[in-house]
Amino acid sequence: MKLHLPAMVCFRVTRYCNARCGFCLAPPDGAHPPAPVLMQRLDWLAGQGVRTIHFCGGEPTIHPALPELLAHVQASGGGSRLTTNGIALPARLLPALRAAHTRVKLSLHGDRAHHDAVVGREAFDPATRHLRALLAAGIPTGIQTTVVAGGEWVLDWMADYCLAEGVPQWCVLPFIPRGSGYRTQGEYGLTSAQRTRLRERVRHLRHTLRGRLDIRWLDFSTQPLPVVEADGRVVLERASESLDTLLYTIPGYTVPARRVPDYASRR
Ligand SMILES: C[S@@+](CC[C@H](N)C(=O)[O-])C[C@H]1O[C@@H](n2cnc3c(N)ncnc32)[C@H](O)[C@@H]1O
Ligand code: SF4
Repeated sequence: MKLHLPAMVCFRVTRYCNARCGFCLAPPDGAHPPAPVLMQRLDWLAGQGVRTIHFCGGEPTIHPALPELLAHVQASGGGSRLTTNGIALPARLLPALRAAHTRVKLSLHGDRAHHDAVVGREAFDPATRHLRALLAAGIPTGIQTTVVAGGEWVLDWMADYCLAEGVPQWCVLPFIPRGSGYRTQGEYGLTSAQRTRLRERVRHLRHTLRGRLDIRWLDFSTQPLPVVEADGRVVLERASESLDTLLYTIPGYTVPARRVPDYASRR
């Protein structure tokens, strides 16, 4: 069966995670497919004409097969990207990212206190250490920031941080009420006036910092996102689950009915 998939899809390697962000649009749900299942999905996507795999999750770096998955995409002529919370950077991953020419986005949501509060654990120090390691290794790495209600100040702080650290690209994601975010929208939800103000501020920063920092506004409530879920569903994801379109289910994997391991409390 041939689907009309875009050239790039978000590929959820796992739904396990070593953090517990209160806003998480894809929180742990037990899905953590083994490597052969993920390889088979990558082959299926290549057969559908998908050229670039954007590895995400859950937290993709905690899947032990991530280096092999990157190499597999590269060997079949595809391109890869990775979005990570940056808490873990296993030794095998850095050379694998370099060999596959992967572009990385590392999620950082503000200063140490704010970042650790929204991520639900101490995460700022390892994430910023790994950001520096990625940049020093010559891996094209940008930052991605989710902005929640009351977090407007984060924009100026993050812009200064990116400039100080020599980060070339910064993507701003306004909060959407998916996953855990459905439950926390009372605390984190943005009114349309707040969203508009944020967008205006991002426009202003983009204009002011042109040539020094490439700033993007990625609002998932206006741009549906093609996603291969960790359970094998291929979904066009929108602002909330009720608006999603299920395109297909890749067979071959059943989510086990067992407790999700608590990676977030491991140090
Ligand atoms: C679902 S995470 C998966 C990758 C990785 N675990 C991470 O956090 O970078 C991908 C991106 O979505 C963002 N995100 C998660 N929940 C969100 C929400 N409710 N609204 C907007 N962005 C969200 C995260 O901040 C992250 O940059
Ligand atoms: S790091 Fe946060 S946003 Fe990313 S998957 Fe884990 S809990 Fe969700």
